[in-house]
Amino acid sequence: MITVKTVRELRAAVQRARNEGKRIAFVPTMGNLHAGHVSLVEMAGQRAEFVIASIFVNPLQFGPSEDLDSYPRTLLDDQEKLHEAGCQLLFAPSVEEMYPDGMALQTQVQVSGVSEGLCGSSRPGHFNGVATVVTKLFNMVQPDIAIFGEKDFQQLAVIRKLTRDLNLPVQIIGGATVRADDGLALSSRNGYLSAAEREIAPRLQATLQEMASALRDGEQDFARLIKNAKARLTRSGFKVDYLEIRNAETLQPASLGDRELVILAAAFLGKPRLLDNVPVSLL
Ligand code: PAJ
Repeated sequence: MITVKTVRELRAAVQRARNEGKRIAFVPTMGNLHAGHVSLVEMAGQRAEFVIASIFVNPLQFGPSEDLDSYPRTLLDDQEKLHEAGCQLLFAPSVEEMYPDGMALQTQVQVSGVSEGLCGSSRPGHFNGVATVVTKLFNMVQPDIAIFGEKDFQQLAVIRKLTRDLNLPVQIIGGATVRADDGLALSSRNGYLSAAEREIAPRLQATLQEMASALRDGEQDFARLIKNAKARLTRSGFKVDYLEIRNAETLQPASLGDRELVILAAAFLGKPRLLDNVPVSLL
């Protein structure tokens, strides 16, 4: 695997792969890679002959009181994991390479609708930052396919929508959430949990699974289900940011009769804000 830090080198490497007739799959990340990221890179390798990953901690998607400066940066480890997972090219640009005119951008990509509510309410500007950097990365890499985790369900919906609305010539693929044995969704921010919090953390996923079972058993009182689940999480020590049942396609509040639902939650446990979701098909 080779690592390049400039758009120029990236474009040259992409051109070589294209000249060899290879399909290009792309996995954007912010680094500090774990088995969740690795699974996306492996999926990419099953679908294309040339796999590119990026590592860029994007200042534009962090709020002023968020962990931009302390976000874990582990490039050497990440390079080894990417190489083992079958990545051929890593793009790891500096902030200056990505934003040569500074962070006061005159052009940004804003997706309304799916990016409103949920994480969009708790993290104002976050999805603008994601949509803008992903559009830039797509234009730099020009992949045939790009893979994103279902772990960040709303992010995946935002990227699908922007790709469709702007006719970006890339196919978006979702990869299943990879979890620890006890059910906790893997996340770079899990490292912020104390040992005691790490014991409690899987209860977030367990609670969403209980809600999913109740829905499958015919529960129709969404508000009561949410209220009870929030109370259980709060008793366990979580500070619930949001817990909602939504239509899995539109991310609008679920109505009776919707068949494809998703239960989405964000909750603080000590320092980190944990994010998880469980899709539910009612057939
Ligand atoms: P990051 O948090 O590094 O995640 C990179 C990709 O890995 C995302 O598509 C995310 O959904 C996926 N991912 C994270 N945890 C996962 C898990 N447990 N199982 C499966 N996939 C998982 O998401 C971002 O970076 C950024 O917002 C980015 C898209 C790179 C734009 O800056």
